[in-house]
Amino acid sequence: MGEIAAEYWKRRKGFILAAIGSAIGLGNIWRFSWLTYRNGGGAFLIPYFIALLIVGVPLLILEFLLGNYFAGSSPKVFRKIRDNLEIIGWIAILDVFIIGTYYAVVLAWVFDYIWLSIIYAPQLASGTLSASRLFGNLVTNPWLVLLGLAVTWFITWYTVFRGVSEGIEKASLVAIPLLWILSIILVIRGVTLPGADTGINWYLSPDFSKLTSGSVWIDAFGQILFTLSIMAAPLIVYASYMPKKSELPNSAWITAFANCGFSFFFGFATWGIIGYLMSLKNVTSPAALNIPLGGGGLAFITIPTAMSQLPGGPSVAAVFGLIFFLVLWLAGYTSLISIIEPVYAALRDKFGVTRRQTVTAVTIISFIIGLIFVFDPDMIDPVDFTVGSTNLVWIVMLEAAVAGFYLGVKKLREYANPYAELKLGAWFDYLIKYAAPISMAVILFYGLWYAKAQVVVYSIVQAGKTVMINAPGTVNGVHPVSLIVMVALLIAAILVTGFKWRTKIEETGIAEV
Ligand code: PFF
Repeated sequence: MGEIAAEYWKRRKGFILAAIGSAIGLGNIWRFSWLTYRNGGGAFLIPYFIALLIVGVPLLILEFLLGNYFAGSSPKVFRKIRDNLEIIGWIAILDVFIIGTYYAVVLAWVFDYIWLSIIYAPQLASGTLSASRLFGNLVTNPWLVLLGLAVTWFITWYTVFRGVSEGIEKASLVAIPLLWILSIILVIRGVTLPGADTGINWYLSPDFSKLTSGSVWIDAFGQILFTLSIMAAPLIVYASYMPKKSELPNSAWITAFANCGFSFFFGFATWGIIGYLMSLKNVTSPAALNIPLGGGGLAFITIPTAMSQLPGGPSVAAVFGLIFFLVLWLAGYTSLISIIEPVYAALRDKFGVTRRQTVTAVTIISFIIGLIFVFDPDMIDPVDFTVGSTNLVWIVMLEAAVAGFYLGVKKLREYANPYAELKLGAWFDYLIKYAAPISMAVILFYGLWYAKAQVVVYSIVQAGKTVMINAPGTVNGVHPVSLIVMVALLIAAILVTGFKWRTKIEETGIAEV
């Protein structure tokens, strides 16, 4: 068997932009500002910032260091730490794989919206067609979604198929700056609309009394994990494509701040527009609008409704609608890339398979599984409950504990420091060994035992992301599908762990075949 040549990013900038691309996703746009609004406005920034500093950045740094130090994907990393820990890596990989199957379906809706809003711009602007009707027609027409899904997967497949520097890096170098430029346009439009200040006040005026509620803190910690894509899969693999002796800690700080800054910034567009709607409808609170303020509802109903009433007539409405959905699509696309790449990398590491065939196979299988969500969008929430929220918490808890106690963070820190722009001190060890696992354990404990189990764990990612379609809070009790997915995932992880390694595990560098 031949040898698989190691792949690397061409420039550090490519690595950082790809990591930012993974982090910035649907969650930044339709979830962050909604969480902020409902969790005490500006006051929510306090738990959010604390979560960022005590678990977000340290775990991001940890994942970068693990990936780079062991030069491979999560199963390889965990196996090198200790043979029988390989399964943790596979759980993470299978988890991210399942996330991809429905994340792509949401992107398919976004894609369809892009061209539907072009085709129906006049009707939307004149009010003969409402945005919610349009969305209703869309989700009930699976064939349309199927088409959007095929296009979304095709573009994603092509990107990952081309490889790290030719595909992922090039796509990120274009998509992320473009995403920012388009977002700046939306924010400027948002904050200059009549009534924008009222909306922004609702977004940010602080209510410190909310901070005494545990669920506010859970929201903050859960959002930090999801938004930074911290889940022992994409970032480990991305960092493995940086050469040894690279700067890593500062890259993690940059990624974290670019991501969280984007969320905060984009909130001004969203809430400026919500304020504008409030002034049009002459209501004094966002709740009185009676439309969704987060999640898929915000993206597919509220924003298009508001866009269609922008000053300037149908063509202006069409242009801003288009920009909004392009932002959403670009954000999601760069995240989806980072969902497929680690699945390929894990299979490559263990079985010695090549990129092109594997990426093609993984894409086709993801597309086929995604049909479930195309034809039954109600399945998204219960599946996401397992793989997109609950699992993140305990996988990351194990990751931090394993790195902290089995491997020794000090070793990693000493590995990174000579090349680091920002040196890691002993604080890093404490955060990884104690702060991260303990806060994850508290979230799980609080979620599963204390306040009505599912409802609280659910609120980890509840806001817009979990509740992609339904109004937040409409789900009570654990859906049987959530449990089935959990059991299936664990069985699959056991099976794939049981297979023989077809590659040699080297101390450094990519596994040779
Ligand atoms: N960080 C992405 C978001 O906020 O939308 C979601 C995500 C991407 C989760 C990639 C997991 C992942 F592997």
